[in-house]
Amino acid sequence: MYIGGNLTIQGLVTVSALYLAINYARMFFDPIMQVARILAELQQAQASAERIVGLLELELEIHDSKEIEEKFGTILHPKRENYLEIKGDVEFKDVSFSYLKDEYVLKNFNLKVKQGTSVALVGATGSGKTTIVNLLCRFYEPTKGEILIDGMNYKDYSIGGLHSSLGYVLQTPHLFNLSILDNIRYGKPDASREAVEKVAKLIGAHDFIMKLEDGYDTFVGEEGSMLSLGERQLISFARALLVNPKILVLDEATSSIDTKTEETILKAIETVMKGRTTFIVAHRLSTITNVDKILVIDQGKIKEQGTHNELIQKQGEYYELYKNQFIEETIDKSFQKAES
Ligand SMILES: Nc1ncnc2c1ncn2[C@@H]1O[C@H](COP(=O)(O)OP(=O)(O)O)[C@@H](O)[C@H]1O
Ligand SMILES: [Mg+2]
Repeated sequence: MYIGGNLTIQGLVTVSALYLAINYARMFFDPIMQVARILAELQQAQASAERIVGLLELELEIHDSKEIEEKFGTILHPKRENYLEIKGDVEFKDVSFSYLKDEYVLKNFNLKVKQGTSVALVGATGSGKTTIVNLLCRFYEPTKGEILIDGMNYKDYSIGGLHSSLGYVLQTPHLFNLSILDNIRYGKPDASREAVEKVAKLIGAHDFIMKLEDGYDTFVGEEGSMLSLGERQLISFARALLVNPKILVLDEATSSIDTKTEETILKAIETVMKGRTTFIVAHRLSTITNVDKILVIDQGKIKEQGTHNELIQKQGEYYELYKNQFIEETIDKSFQKAES
């Protein structure tokens, strides 16, 4: 441009010739730059492909045996018609479990839960509550001992068969960047819009959903970022209820939620618990006063068990936990009142 500009000023080259020269130069270099960009993208794609292949080739730690796969199909090609019906009797029989070799989180853990009843697990952080429910969901398997469902080792139901009768709501609900409708029917993609609305009403999520711009067709954003944590939790309750599970696992589903949403969620919990075997890992003890059995877990062992009233009367570990939390909450509430 500099040389051409000078030549033009001196009148040796016309303006149009300069214009053409510059344009041709650009047309020449553009494809070269494109080639460079494509090469860089190819390199990225190669790296991504390597990771995808690595993931696909990863051997699953938890998998069904050959016979079970033959009978019930795999996760990708399930034979749903062969799935066994699950009623919901659960038994942990001498279950020992370690994440790392020789460091047992559970040792000879025994627990029987009758179908349709509820148990709550309470105890300090790290006592093993999540481990117990993760084992039940077969995210991990017992190192020793076995878990029986309706009297049969749960491995004999196949992973797909078990999960089709099992619902879980975790502390941080995972939502996909899809519509609310599709998020709720994630575990049962063929569910009708009416069925989805019905469970949302049962849970108490219908009202807030209808207030959104597009109702059930509202997209929730990455990880559900358009919704509050409480609303996300309600969605995941609706999701769990839609598959009508016989066994339900709620792991600290009510922590980190404000008191008002908690009320809705408490009602939701009561609704979803009916007629199901329910395991609740509770952070707030106020959420579990009406379960059938409370287990106080300490270092992977059941330290105390009974109903809320029994344990309060006993004035043991649970009583202390409850008393402390009650005092904390009362102080919190009076602070909130003073602030407002
Ligand atoms: N993925 C893991 N790998 C190794 N150790 C773990 C893992 N998850 C939990 N643990 C250990 O197992 C114990 C019980 O943890 P957890 O079941 O999460 O307790 P809780 O839910 O009662 O807080 C803790 O000592 C914890 O450090
Ligand atoms: Mg936990």
